[in-house]
Amino acid sequence: RRVALLGVPIEIGAGLRGTLMGPAALRTAGIGRLLEQLRIEAEDHGDMTRPQRDRGNDPTPANANFYGEVRSWVGAISARAYELAQSGAVPLFMGGDHSLSMGSVNGVARYWQTQGKPLFVLWLDAHADYNTPTTTLTANMHGMSAAFLCGEPGLDDLLGDEPRVSIPSGRLDLFGIRSIDPLEKELVRARAIPVVDMRAIDEFGVGVLIRRVIDRVRAAGGVLHLSFDVDFLDPAVAPGVGTTVPGGATYREAHLIMELLHDSGLVRSLDVVELNPFLDERGRTARVAVELIGSLFGMQITDRQTPSNALL
Ligand code: ARG
Ligand code: MN
Ligand code: MN
Ligand code: MN
Repeated sequence: RRVALLGVPIEIGAGLRGTLMGPAALRTAGIGRLLEQLRIEAEDHGDMTRPQRDRGNDPTPANANFYGEVRSWVGAISARAYELAQSGAVPLFMGGDHSLSMGSVNGVARYWQTQGKPLFVLWLDAHADYNTPTTTLTANMHGMSAAFLCGEPGLDDLLGDEPRVSIPSGRLDLFGIRSIDPLEKELVRARAIPVVDMRAIDEFGVGVLIRRVIDRVRAAGGVLHLSFDVDFLDPAVAPGVGTTVPGGATYREAHLIMELLHDSGLVRSLDVVELNPFLDERGRTARVAVELIGSLFGMQITDRQTPSNALL
């Protein structure tokens, strides 16, 4: 198997600066080396460069900060995502803030459409990211990506010349949610988006709930894109994010999710987003993120070196 790493150093979709350093931190934490240790060919396509500010004459919608810049990123990301998926590799988009997923998911969805396979999206996140310019309280576009991908109106020119694919609402799973804005919550309900919040995780456990997602994808003959927002994790495990919310997934829950996803064999692309090295503590969050990617690509508990081994 082959993984195509692509850095997407975008930060203007978030309220705080710093996620542009995410790809560098993931590389420093050893993402490429770990994949190679797992006998996966890891080809690093480097970082995308910041596109020139879009000077198109399309009207800028209200309540969408840095719309023009996000627009030029998203179109370019979608085109790269399509190409990488077509190459047969598993594209791994290293963010960057979560607005990048409007491009990455659109691009891979477009590829799977040519293959006649339904694409499902698993959104591991403290937030629903289901705002539109009408419902948002912050105007930050990283809070709008899931809604955009499901075809919600309000950012209609965002992809430029890239064809837009919308993900049917039953093919998006919001998982780990514990922070949602009032109008955003109404919209998620109205669209009947499947939501697993932290209450459900406490009650049933991630094992049962992730298997339910996997079974649904498999029954449909589909493939899965994982959009992993690092704030899904509890801030005690992952302090290096701008939008921490208490009560997140534990280290063990997160690893189990990745292990189950690995065993399913259904994940064909992923985003790792919102890592903000400027806020991290001595690289902890980057290291945890890389370890979790390891579990997603087959690292097992029994592969981990124990301290006693290290001493021998
Ligand atoms: N709901 C808030 C907003 O719309 C927070 C979104 C956080 N999103 C994220 N990708 N971290 O601004
Ligand atoms: Mn190699
Ligand atoms: Mn989030
Ligand atoms: Mn997010």
